[in-house]
Amino acid sequence: MTSLDRKTRGRTTHQRLRALDVFLIHRERELLARDEGAWARAAFVDLGFGEHPWTTLESARAFRELNPGLPVVGVELEPQRVESARPHADALTDFREGGFELPLRSGETVRLIRAMNLLRGYRPEEVPGIHQKLGEALLEGGLLVEGSTDTPGAVLVAHLLRRVPEGLSREALLFHTDFSRGFAPVLFRDWLPRDFRRRVKPGEPIHTFFADWTAAWQEAREAGHEEPPEAFRHSVLRLASRVEGVTTEPWLLDEGFLLWRPPGGVFR
Ligand SMILES: C[S@@+](CC[C@H](N)C(=O)[O-])C[C@H]1O[C@@H](n2cnc3c(N)ncnc32)[C@H](O)[C@@H]1O
Repeated sequence: MTSLDRKTRGRTTHQRLRALDVFLIHRERELLARDEGAWARAAFVDLGFGEHPWTTLESARAFRELNPGLPVVGVELEPQRVESARPHADALTDFREGGFELPLRSGETVRLIRAMNLLRGYRPEEVPGIHQKLGEALLEGGLLVEGSTDTPGAVLVAHLLRRVPEGLSREALLFHTDFSRGFAPVLFRDWLPRDFRRRVKPGEPIHTFFADWTAAWQEAREAGHEEPPEAFRHSVLRLASRVEGVTTEPWLLDEGFLLWRPPGGVFR
């Protein structure tokens, strides 16, 4: 354990991270599939898989549709969770005890690190150091996905952080809902990543973003788009006309994703 690692609860659910898998397969095909040079042995690392390795195994299966030889490493701070996952290991799938200092073996590289529902027990001011530590393990072009979901995975918000030559770029914030809980922008507030969770208050950029999105949503409803998927789609289209970096790719809107890539990166 490093001084940053901390023991936390291990609750997880089948398919909780499925929407994120679908997003990554759509938007990050090259990242998942590339196999030149050091990428040939570049793993997907699922950090903090929880008391069951369900989400790791589900993602391994999904990503291997694109890359059948993809190495997958599930990492947990809790040794018993690693022990109970081990029967699911195979030639390409491993479960290891470890923390933010990833337990990599000689010659292993990393293309994608997922750290979902992990940082709730950490302090917001610890988050930049944790991101930086994890980013050091990535190949250039690799991605760190860190964020939160509700228990079934119906609502998700995550940071997408890209390893670039200068370090780790705060590339985007990703929001997703499957509409099972209806839709209003406020739905996402309680599931923001740890560093933004308590910062939706006047004067904070994340508050301004939610105020803009809420205004766009109200306009969409007033224009007759009341059903959650339509209210979502039209709120994002309206938001994109007033906030730079909001992606309006139809597939994303159809699937309930808002991908926001502010020019210059996501604020701290
Ligand atoms: C709530 S579970 C999340 C499980 C799964 N990722 C999900 O989203 O459903 C969080 C897990 O992260 C583990 N964890 C917390 N801090 C960690 C760290 N620094 N390194 C590795 N695992 C950690 C905990 O032991 C716990 O099992």
